Amino acid sequence: MPAISFAPASRTWLLRTPGSAYALRVDGDDVPRHLHWGEPLTLDQADSLPLPADLSGFNGFEGHTPVGEELPVDGGSRFGAPSLQLRFADGVRALEPVADGHSLTEQPTGATLLLHFRDRHYPLRITLGYQVHDDSDVIERWTELTHTGTDSEAGDGTEQGPITVLRADSAAWSLPPRDDYRLSHTTGAWAAETQLRRSQLSYGETVLTSRRGVTGHHAQPWAMVDAGDADEQHGQVWSTALAWSGSWRITLQRTADNALGLSAGAGHEGLTVRLAPGATHSTPRLAGLYSGGGFGGTSRSWHAHIRAHLLPHPDETRPVLYNSWEATAFAVTLEGQQQLAAHAAALGVELFVMDDGWFGARRNDRAGLGDWTPYAGAFPDGLQPLVDSVHGLGMRFGLWVEPEMVNPDSDLYRAHPDWVLHQPNRRRTELRHQLVLNLARPEVAEWMYDWLTRLVGDHGIDYLKWDMNRPFTEAGGSADPDDPDLLWTDYVRHYYQVVDRLRADHPALRIEACSSGGGRVDLGVLARHDQVWTSDNTDASDRLVIQDGYAQVYPVRTMAAWVTDVPNQQTGRSIPLRFRFHSAMSGVLGLGGELDRWTGAELKEAAELIAEYRTIRHLVQHGALYRLRPPRSQNELTAVQYTAADAAEAVVFGWLEQRRFGRPQPPLRLAGLDRDARYRDRRSGAVHHGAVLLEHGLDLELPPGDWASAVVHLVRV
Ligand code: DGJ
Repeated sequence: MPAISFAPASRTWLLRTPGSAYALRVDGDDVPRHLHWGEPLTLDQADSLPLPADLSGFNGFEGHTPVGEELPVDGGSRFGAPSLQLRFADGVRALEPVADGHSLTEQPTGATLLLHFRDRHYPLRITLGYQVHDDSDVIERWTELTHTGTDSEAGDGTEQGPITVLRADSAAWSLPPRDDYRLSHTTGAWAAETQLRRSQLSYGETVLTSRRGVTGHHAQPWAMVDAGDADEQHGQVWSTALAWSGSWRITLQRTADNALGLSAGAGHEGLTVRLAPGATHSTPRLAGLYSGGGFGGTSRSWHAHIRAHLLPHPDETRPVLYNSWEATAFAVTLEGQQQLAAHAAALGVELFVMDDGWFGARRNDRAGLGDWTPYAGAFPDGLQPLVDSVHGLGMRFGLWVEPEMVNPDSDLYRAHPDWVLHQPNRRRTELRHQLVLNLARPEVAEWMYDWLTRLVGDHGIDYLKWDMNRPFTEAGGSADPDDPDLLWTDYVRHYYQVVDRLRADHPALRIEACSSGGGRVDLGVLARHDQVWTSDNTDASDRLVIQDGYAQVYPVRTMAAWVTDVPNQQTGRSIPLRFRFHSAMSGVLGLGGELDRWTGAELKEAAELIAEYRTIRHLVQHGALYRLRPPRSQNELTAVQYTAADAAEAVVFGWLEQRRFGRPQPPLRLAGLDRDARYRDRRSGAVHHGAVLLEHGLDLELPPGDWASAVVHLVRV
C-alpha cells in the first residue's frame, strides 16, 4: 500500500509510516478533521472510523469542539485556541475555508500530500502540507498561506488589501481519547538546561513558549504526551518537535470532555505577519511522532529520524575536542594557546578550539564584540601561526565566533549604530554588555556572511563554534516598515541562510551551535550544525541530568560534553577525574580544563580514558540509546546503554554519586541485546549470555566509595 492513500467517497486520507498510521477526513462542511494517530491501520479500517461527535447542535453554548481539526481556524462557533487566526483588510476576522483540491506526490522514499483550501469569499489560499518517509515514524507538517489577490495597490480597508496573520501554527495534532493525559517536556535556565518534567496535564490550556527571538534555555520546542501509563520500555507516546530557532509556542488544550489537542508553530502571542497581495507565508515544519515503545522507543525514533533526515553529516564520528574557554577565559595569547594545544595533542585530542577573546579589544565581555580581526597584542602575525601549529600537531583547528552580536564599545557599533535591534524612543537594553545585530536586515546578513567566509577560507579553519549570548529586546528595525514583526522571522531565516552559505562555500567546515550553552537547540539548528554546546554547566553530576533531558529528543551524536577542572566553575563541586570522564564520554567527548596544571597522573589517566572513548564512541554516537536508570537522586545508580544497530556490541555506563549504607548494587538489567547470543566484556574477558544480561543483569563492579562509575564494553562472541 502506498505511504499515503485516499478513499474518495468519504474524503478520507491515510498516511502510513513503518510503525504508525495517521488518518484524517475532509467532512461535509469541508473541515479537515482528525481521525486516527497511532498503531497501523488499513485504508478500509480508517474509512470505517466515525468522526468524533459534533456538539454544536446540542446547546447554543457548546460551539464546535475545540480540538479534533487538522488546523482549527478562528471562525464560526469555534471557541478553542485557534491554530490559524487572520484579519482581512476590511476588518473581517472569521475564516470560512472551503476545500480546493489536493496534490499527492510519491517520492522514492516517502510521499507528500498537500490539501488546498480557499476562503469562501476573501482572496486567501490555505495549504496543509504532510510528508511521510519510509524509514521513519515521524510525520512532518506545515501550513502555507497565499494572498491570491492580484491588486498590489489595494490598500487597507478593501477586501483585496493585505491580510494580517495573527497566528499561523504549522499544524495541530489530536490525540485519541484516554482517561488521563501526562505531559513530558523540559524546563531550564542558563547552566541548568533541559531538565525533564513529567506531570499530569491540567484541564484548560497549557502553553510552552519562547518570547525571546531565540529558542531559549528555559524550554525546548517539543512536547510528549502519554496517558499516564507509559514508561521507558512500554506504552503509547505522542510527541511533537518544531524546526524553528526563534520565538515559538506550543498550546496544549485539554477540554472539559477530556479531549486533547496540541497546536504549535513559530512566534509568540502578539506577533503578526502581513500578507500582501500575491505573497505566500510558509510556516516552519512541525514534526510529529507516535511510538508504541514507551519513552525509550520515542527517543530512539527521534534520534533515528534526526540522523536520517536532518543532520548534515550523520555518519561522521565527531572528534575529541579541546576548548580553551574554561582554561583562559579572555586571557588569550598565542603562546598560551600553543601550550594548551601541545598538551591536548599529547592526550589524543583531535580538534583544538580557541574560544572567546582572540579579536579586537575583547579583553573582557565589555568591548570588542563585532570587530573580527585578531588582537594584535596576542596575535601580532594574525591567526595563521596558531592555525599552523595546531595543524602541525595533527589536530583540526576551530574558532569561537559570535556573529550576531556587538558590544556598544566596538568599532562596528561606532560605525553602524543603526545595525542593532532597536526602537525609537526606547533605550537599548544591554545584556552581557552587548546588543543584538539586526540580522533581519539584508546588509547585516551580507556583512556577516562576508567576513565569516573570508575568515574560514583565508585561514583554513576547520570548525566554528557559533555562539549567541543574549535574547532580543526592543526588536525593531524590520526591513519592511509596513510589517514590523517580519523581523522575527527574517532574522531566523537569515541566520539559516548565512550558515547554509558558509557550509556550501566550505564543505569541510563543521559548525557547533552554542547559545550561552544550550540556549538555541531545535530541529532547525540540528539541520545545519554538527554538534551543540549542551550547557555551560560542566559539573559531571549536573550534566547527567542535563544530558538525560537533552537526549529525550536530540541525538547524543550532537551532545558535546567536556571534562573540566575541579572545583567546577559553576558548582564548586570536586568530582574525581574518572567520574568526570565517564559523564562526558556518554556524549561527544571534549576537554576544557587548564591542562598545564594537571598532574602527570591526571594526564596519564586522561590519555587512557580518551583512548578508551575512541574504542566505544561509534556506539555512543551512532548506537541506540537505552536509558537503563535515569538520573533520580544522588544515591541511586544512573545508567545508560548504547547498542549497535545489529546488537553485536553495546557499551554500558553506570554512575553512583553517593553510596549510602554501604549496600551492594543489584545487577543492572540491560536492554536491546540479542537474547541468544553471548557477549564478552572487553576489559575483564568475562562472557555473559544475552538472556542473562536482559533478565538478570550485569554486575558493573563499581569501585568502592562515592563517585563510583564504570564503563563496560560488550562484544558479541
Ligand atoms: C558562552 C558559551 O556557552 C561559552 O562556552 C563560551 O564560549 C562563552 N560564551 C564565551 O563568551
